[in-house]
This record gives sequence, C-alpha cells and structure tokens, in this order.
Amino acid sequence: MTPSMQNAKKQSSPQKPAGKPRLLTGDRTTGRLHLGHYVGSLQARVQLQNDYSEIILLADVQALTTHFQQPELIRQSIYDVALDNLAAGLDPQRVLFAQQSRIGPIAELTVFYSMLVTVNTLRHNPTIKTEAAQYGYQDMTYGFLGYPVSQAADITFCSAQAVPVGEDQLPHLELCRKLVRRFADLYGPVLTEPQPLLSACPRLKGLDGGGKMGKSLGNAVYLSDPPTLVEEKIRRAVTDPHRITAREPGDPAVCVVSQYHQIFNAEEYEEICSACRNGCIGCVACKNRLTRRINALLEPMRERRAYYEAHLDVVRELIDLGSRQACHMGEETVRRVRDAMQVAL
Ligand code: TRP
Repeated sequence: MTPSMQNAKKQSSPQKPAGKPRLLTGDRTTGRLHLGHYVGSLQARVQLQNDYSEIILLADVQALTTHFQQPELIRQSIYDVALDNLAAGLDPQRVLFAQQSRIGPIAELTVFYSMLVTVNTLRHNPTIKTEAAQYGYQDMTYGFLGYPVSQAADITFCSAQAVPVGEDQLPHLELCRKLVRRFADLYGPVLTEPQPLLSACPRLKGLDGGGKMGKSLGNAVYLSDPPTLVEEKIRRAVTDPHRITAREPGDPAVCVVSQYHQIFNAEEYEEICSACRNGCIGCVACKNRLTRRINALLEPMRERRAYYEAHLDVVRELIDLGSRQACHMGEETVRRVRDAMQVAL
C-alpha cells in the first residue's frame, strides 16, 4: 500500500452537510451590485435557495487584491453588497451571509493550499490574465496572482458541493476541483469537490454598448438606482449609430437596448425588434418601454432595501452570526486538513 493509500484509509470521507446540499457563492465588496450581477448570478441564487443551503460570502479580502488603496470603499461595500442580495430576494432565514475576513480558517487553508498550486498555473489562468489587463497591471502582487487559491479555500472550508458560476469564474472553479483531487492523492479524501452550476444567461452589456456592464466602467444600472436615474441612464444608452430619425429603419442587432429588451422584456422583444426594423418605433418610445420594465423589476427590490436600510442593526447581526457559523465549519475543515498533512495539532 502506498503512503497516500494509507492516508486515504485513515481519513474518513469528506464532510457532508446534512439536509440540503450546500452551495457557496461570493461577491467582492468593491461597490454596489448592478443589473449584470442580477441576471448573471443573483437571480439564480434567489431561485436556488429552495433547494440548497446557501452561503453568500462577502469577499472583502479578495476585494483587497485590486482595491487595497480604497479600504473605506471595501468597508462600506460589505453592507451595500449584503443589502443588494437581500433586496434581490434572498431570505435571511435560509441563507447565511459571511464576511470573508472574519473567517480565519479561510486564510489558514489558503496557506496550506498554496503549496499545491504552481505559479505557472496561476499565470496562465485566463481570468487572471483578463483582469490583470483590465487593471493595467504590468506586474502584479502575490495576493492578486494567488486569489484563485484563496477562492478555493472559500469554497472548500464549508465543503460546498455546488458553486453557481458565470463563464469568467469557471477557470477558478476548475483550479479548485484540481486542487481537491491533488489533495486527495497526496493526503487523503478530506475535501469536497464542488460542481459548477453554469449561468444560463449571457453576459449583460454596458449602457455604452461597448463591453460588459461593470462597476468600474461607469456603464451600469445599479439595483439601488432610483426610478428617475434608471430613466436617465436608459435614455443615454447607445443605440444603432446609423439611425438618425425615428422613421428610418434601425438595426436591433447593433443596439444594446434590444439586448436589454430580450432579457428584461422577453414578451415584447420580437414585436419591438420588428417595429424598429420597419421604422415604426423610435428610440425614445422603445427606451421608455424598457425603462418601465426595469423599474417594475427593481421596485420590489427598492422596498426590501428600504426595510433593511432602516434596520441596519439586523443586517449587522446577520453578518455577525453568519460569520461565526462559517468559522465553526472552517475550523472543522482545518482540523482535518492539518491532520491529513500531519501539521501540528
Ligand atoms: N471571484 C468572485 C467574483 O469576482 C467572487 C468570489 C469570491 C467567489 N469568493 C468566491 C465566487 C467563491 C464564487 C465562490 O465575482
């Protein structure tokens, strides 16, 4: 029997939470969340809360990897992001909110896991490459390069079985899955290998029609925007640049407003596109219809947000309690990891 087989025998099977399968997801706390987050992730979280025991990680340590010069922003965003999730319809009775920096076991697991991931693996991670280019990093910090390792600790500390991901997070999940298997080969089956739940929705474009909707790009409709601001932003959204007057035919394929109709106003999408192509609807009228739909979607979120804004102490307690519970889960995982790696206990 090889040493790793002996270890495998010695270890019991990975922790399996009782009841519903566990799902973990997270948001960097670098600002409020927008419609792109909603269609790409929040909407699915709300639906999945019936079938999974969900943990939402307020990723304030990961936020430092890019925003270490803005600690106040990160601090404020912990509440903003929690409020956005609650406003979107996550039920605090069922979902656990945990603040990453308060979960010591995540930091500890990150150190142990960092022995099992090579620098080249991280340097070739497509999401790291894209983000490094986006932030203009010629060189990058050790923390930024290594955040996928820390994200693997986010996912495994609580033995998450499922992680909802958009396309961009898939490489990180793959790294986590490989790491779990490598750990099992070396030390025994301690960790749980998570499965991706891939988002069905395509990435939402920004109001400028250029790239994706992004917090740092100034092209987003935020879930917390008041109705008049939504109206103003949609009014300025970029449409078909070749269309000058309302009676000319337009091309929905090059218009970001049509993508929004497809997602937020699916019933009227076909009708609006053909009216546009025939020059029967102008951009102003088309945008007004979209604005009404988006404001109707956001209205219940505004109500829930107003409630929690008036009860910030409740939100604070949720995060306190959730973080403490998360710590307990993580401590158990660290104990097993230390045992398997024969690190002093
Ligand atoms: N990297 C994710 C993002 O940028 C946030 C995140 C942190 C996360 N920890 C996670 C996502 C764990 C899924 C699982 O959106």
